[in-house]
Amino acid sequence: MLKEKQIVLGVTGGIAAYKAVELLRLLTKAGADVHVIMTSSAQEFVAPLTFQTLSANPVHTELFNLIAEREIGHIALADRADLFVIAPATANVIGKIASGIADDMLTTTIMATKAPVLFAPAMNVNMYTNPIYRENEERLRKHGYLFVPPEKGALACGWEGEGKLAAPETIFEAIVAALSPQDLRGQTIMITAGPTREEIDPVRFISNHSSGKMGYALAMNAQRRGARVILVSGPVNLSAPDGVELQSVASAREMQAAVMGRVGECTAVIKAAAVADYSPARRSGVKIKKKNAELSLELVKTPDILAGLGALETRPFLVGFAAETGNLAEFAAGKLKDKNADMIVANDVSQADAGFHVDTNRAMLLFRDGRILECPLMTKDALAAIILDHVAAETAARKND
Ligand code: PMT
Repeated sequence: MLKEKQIVLGVTGGIAAYKAVELLRLLTKAGADVHVIMTSSAQEFVAPLTFQTLSANPVHTELFNLIAEREIGHIALADRADLFVIAPATANVIGKIASGIADDMLTTTIMATKAPVLFAPAMNVNMYTNPIYRENEERLRKHGYLFVPPEKGALACGWEGEGKLAAPETIFEAIVAALSPQDLRGQTIMITAGPTREEIDPVRFISNHSSGKMGYALAMNAQRRGARVILVSGPVNLSAPDGVELQSVASAREMQAAVMGRVGECTAVIKAAAVADYSPARRSGVKIKKKNAELSLELVKTPDILAGLGALETRPFLVGFAAETGNLAEFAAGKLKDKNADMIVANDVSQADAGFHVDTNRAMLLFRDGRILECPLMTKDALAAIILDHVAAETAARKND
């Protein structure tokens, strides 16, 4: 995901400096080449050797180090970076940069870079709410510097409140978003995910094996690319990505109400949810007793939400999924036409490494003009990115029509 990206990680002096080690691990795991710059106070909290070992690059600590400056000078570091992230960022370093002070390796390099700079502040709550700090942050934001706000919680200084360094995963996500194309900015995309549950009685329901992974990968990727994301989700064991508007539902009827209630806000809808096709004709108010050897349930068809969207007079760009166990292209083409969708993502759910629950998928994308694109086995994250490439391209083409 961050392959071939050069990231400079600036670590300043705060107790949260140890969390920068975890951030470094997330970045290197995602393929980034990370160069660490530590201020002298940061070195009071964590030894440079830790960062050097985990980044496999020399750690920069001094501006006037002759050997380091000959091997890779501060200007070269500023030039080669795709992004700078300062985590934790103290009130001191933010104040210095906001005032144009460049008196050490970190502040000098930041002053010299044209790459995006992302601050993850961590400090005492009274420092964080101090009007002088607020002005400094505002000033930097105005100049295009990015911030990952701190969390609320128990602070190392004994106070309670805002000032706790954001989780390494949150900072990582902000880095990925800052490096992603913003080709979905201005769009509102609704994504449905997970299964629905059709209740038989208070303790039993009909459902399926959908984990929500495909839909949540789409939500995460759309958000990274600048879209406002509405995630209508059936019951799953996943957390919605930060910033995504989650609307939790259980049954197909609830999903239909949520989708139809918000479709007017959307430029595109992607229906990755595995909606139950049938629901019990009647829900028993009490637990059905085990009396006879056999029990028959009368089932009725659920509303077809995608077809309902396709029938709207003015409708957003519509992407449906097709979960098939054979004749993929033929059945998917039928769904594209019958449901009046703009694009269908067909996956063969009979394969162990694709479809329900697993982290990977293999798909065929079908378009209204007859184009078919085969996507070989890949992570659901990678497939989500490809689907969104098409949503971005097709919606941009519509705008220009
Ligand atoms: O959640 P995961 O574990 O990651 O698994 C991913 C997935 C296999 C669920 C996903 O990739 C997928 O294929 N989702 C669609 C599943 C499905 O219901 O397919 P379908 O062929 O039955 O339906 C076709 C389309 O109509 C789908 O977009 C579906 O959301 C929609 N539909 C179906 C029935 C219904 N009553 N209303 C609908 O809107």
